[in-house]
Amino acid sequence: MSNLVITNARVITPASVELEPISEKAILDQHGRAVVIKDGWIVDVVPASEAPVGDEWTVLDVEGALVTPAFVDPHTHSIFAGDRSSEFHARIQGQTYREQQQKGGINVTVEATRAVSDEQLLLSLKKWVRVFACQGTGTLEVKTGYGLSHHEELRLLQLIHGANTGIDLVPTYLGAHALPKDKGREQYLEEMVTKTIPALAETGLAEFVDVFVASVAFTPQEADVIFGRAALFGLKLKAHLWELEHDSSSFLLEKYHLTSIDHLEFATADDLQIAFKKGTVPTLLPLTAWHLGYSIKHTYQTIKELGGYFAVSTDFNPGTSFVPSPWQAINVGHIAFGIPVEELFLGYTAYAARAVAREDRGAVRPGYRADLMVLDVPDLSWLGYLQGVNPVRALIKNGRLIVDRRDMC
Ligand code: NIG
Ligand code: FE
Repeated sequence: MSNLVITNARVITPASVELEPISEKAILDQHGRAVVIKDGWIVDVVPASEAPVGDEWTVLDVEGALVTPAFVDPHTHSIFAGDRSSEFHARIQGQTYREQQQKGGINVTVEATRAVSDEQLLLSLKKWVRVFACQGTGTLEVKTGYGLSHHEELRLLQLIHGANTGIDLVPTYLGAHALPKDKGREQYLEEMVTKTIPALAETGLAEFVDVFVASVAFTPQEADVIFGRAALFGLKLKAHLWELEHDSSSFLLEKYHLTSIDHLEFATADDLQIAFKKGTVPTLLPLTAWHLGYSIKHTYQTIKELGGYFAVSTDFNPGTSFVPSPWQAINVGHIAFGIPVEELFLGYTAYAARAVAREDRGAVRPGYRADLMVLDVPDLSWLGYLQGVNPVRALIKNGRLIVDRRDMC
C-alpha cells in the first residue's frame, strides 16, 4: 500500500500545526475528497472526481466517512508492571494521592516492574500500545520512570526502542519520577546526571528528558540540575509541573526551552505567559485532574484569556490515570471541564504533534505524514457526546492500514 487513495472522504483537519492561538486555528471541513498518499506521505487532497486512477493505486473508499489526523498522545507512562487497583479504590474512599506517594505509590510500580522479565514487560507495552492504536493513536510518547536506577531505566528505554508496534513511540527518560527506595537523594541525582544522561546522549535511547517537579518528587532546583545536564547533551526537555501545588518552577521555563509542560492544575497566568513567550506547549491531562479531584478549568480559561494553545493527553499510568483511551480523555475534558470538543480535537492532533516535536504530523494536508483515522461519526460534534463506543473504523499509519474495524465490534 505505498500508493494509497482514500476516496469519498469528508476530511476534517487542523489547517496547520503552527502554534497559533487555539481560538484562531482553522479546522477545515471538506466533503467528497480524495486523500492521495505516496510512500507514507500525503501528497494531495483533491475532489474525489480528480483522484488518480491506475493499477499502481490502492483505493480505500470510505463512503463519506470522516477522515481526520490520527491522534498523537504526547504524555504516557505505558511501560510498567504490577497492580495498583487497591490504591485507586482507597483514593475513592478518601485517601489522598500525596499520602499514597509518601508510602509507596510510584515505588509500588517500580518494585513490580523491576521484578518482571524483559519479555513480560515488552508484551505488556505492546498490548497497551495496541489499545491506543485501535482507538486512533498513530504516535505515542512513552516515558520511563518505573525503573529508577541507571540499569533499569536503560532497560525500559531499550524495550521501548525494540517494541516494533506499528505506530511511532517517542521515548522519554523520566528517571526523576520519584526517589527510589534504595538510594539517597544526592546519590540518585548524581547517578542521573553523571551516568544516565550521558549514556542517553551516547546511545540515542531517549529523545526527551522529563522531571516530575512536586513536593512528593523533585524540587525545581533539582530539575534545574537535571535539565542543565540534559540540555548540555542536546536532549529535549519536558516537565510535569504544578500538578499537586504551585511552586517556583517558572524560572525553568525562562532558562531552558521546554518543548512541553504538562498537568498545570496549579499554574498561574504568569507561568503560562512565559510558556507562550517561549513556544512551549502546555499539555492538559483531564483524566488525571478528574481522578485526583482537581480541576483544569481555571488553567484552561487562563490559556484562552492569554490567547494561547494547549495539547491534550491521557497521561496513561497505573497510579493516576489507568485509562489508555483518547476518547475518554475527550469525554472528561468536555464534560467535567467544559472544554469544547473542537479544541480537544486540535489539542489531540496539531498541538499534540508540537508537544512531542513532530511537526510532520497532526494535519491531513499535502506534505504531512499519512497518519489518519477514519471515524464512524457523522460530525466532530459527536465527540464527547457519543460515549462508551470506540468510533475508530480504521487507522492508517504512514500510509498503511494498520487497524481495520469496519465491523465496529
Ligand atoms: O503523571 N505525576 C507523576 N506521574 C504520574 C503518576 C505516576 C504514578 O502514580 O504511577 C502522573 O500523574
Ligand atoms: Fe504523567
